[in-house]
Amino acid sequence: MRGFIRGTHHLTFCVGGAQEDYDFHVRLLGLKSVKKTVLFDGEIPIYHLYYGNRLGDPSTLLTAFPYRQAGWMGKRGTNQAKSLNLSVPADALGFWADRLSEHGVEHERGERFGTERLFFRHPCGIEYQIVGDPDTDDREPYDAVVPAEHAIRGAYGTTTSVRETDPQHFFFTEALGGELVSSEGPHHQYRIGDEQGYGRQLELAEEPDLPQGTWQFGEGTIHHQAFDVVSAANQQEVKDWIVGLGFTDVSEPKDRGYFFSMYCRSPGGLLVEIAYGTPQGFTIDESEEELGTHMCIPPHWEDRRSEISQLEPIETVETVVG
Ligand SMILES: [Fe+2]
Repeated sequence: MRGFIRGTHHLTFCVGGAQEDYDFHVRLLGLKSVKKTVLFDGEIPIYHLYYGNRLGDPSTLLTAFPYRQAGWMGKRGTNQAKSLNLSVPADALGFWADRLSEHGVEHERGERFGTERLFFRHPCGIEYQIVGDPDTDDREPYDAVVPAEHAIRGAYGTTTSVRETDPQHFFFTEALGGELVSSEGPHHQYRIGDEQGYGRQLELAEEPDLPQGTWQFGEGTIHHQAFDVVSAANQQEVKDWIVGLGFTDVSEPKDRGYFFSMYCRSPGGLLVEIAYGTPQGFTIDESEEELGTHMCIPPHWEDRRSEISQLEPIETVETVVG
């Protein structure tokens, strides 16, 4: 390919209640709430909640749109992203099995592609996997809730449900420069990105008999996977490469406040974003010590504070002001 992909930048999904989502990611999974803001697209105010490590480094970020208050439901199915897969050290899997049990979260333990995994669900129904990653992972774990030795490191990757593999195989290998690593029956694993990246495992699950999943914003569905393309110049190069293959619907760059994004619907249904961060990252509107403690309103929503204040309140570990 022309240009390069580093690895995952963030994973974004539509959940139910904001409190339920906060409790799941912060109180159960032990991630840090690094930013509370609103979804930049659309006509109605929707929270955009970011979770990650201390500074919200690329590949540690999970971001949620809570849609229950608005009443928008999604439908899970095929031709759609299916599972969010998170890395922990390989010997931490027992800790996580116990922790999920203690919190009353049903889970199954299994093995796939040579890694031990826990399969469970977000309260809104989205599938999650905790993957015991045997590889070295230098990402800084957030250790305020879960001890560092067991803590989630960030994205391992995603699984996308497809009717057939060929179109997405083409996209993963040609458009994203990845390689097929392994196949186990209906499951296939690809690796994308470079040695400095994380969240490089993209998996497919062949599920030809499932109905089509929805792509619009709606509770209970994964919305997109963002890949880190590091710089504006490389983002443009990757876009030109993907467009040159015939995927002409790569969007214009969008200013997301903390990073700049382009979007492209891949043929297996996964919405792909290519993003690069700003130098300030999440400290552009909050100090490092206060990350996640304000309701951060983007300039173009500033005159709609009264609407935003109607969003359900979230009881948090940190003190939220404004
Ligand atoms: Fe995104």
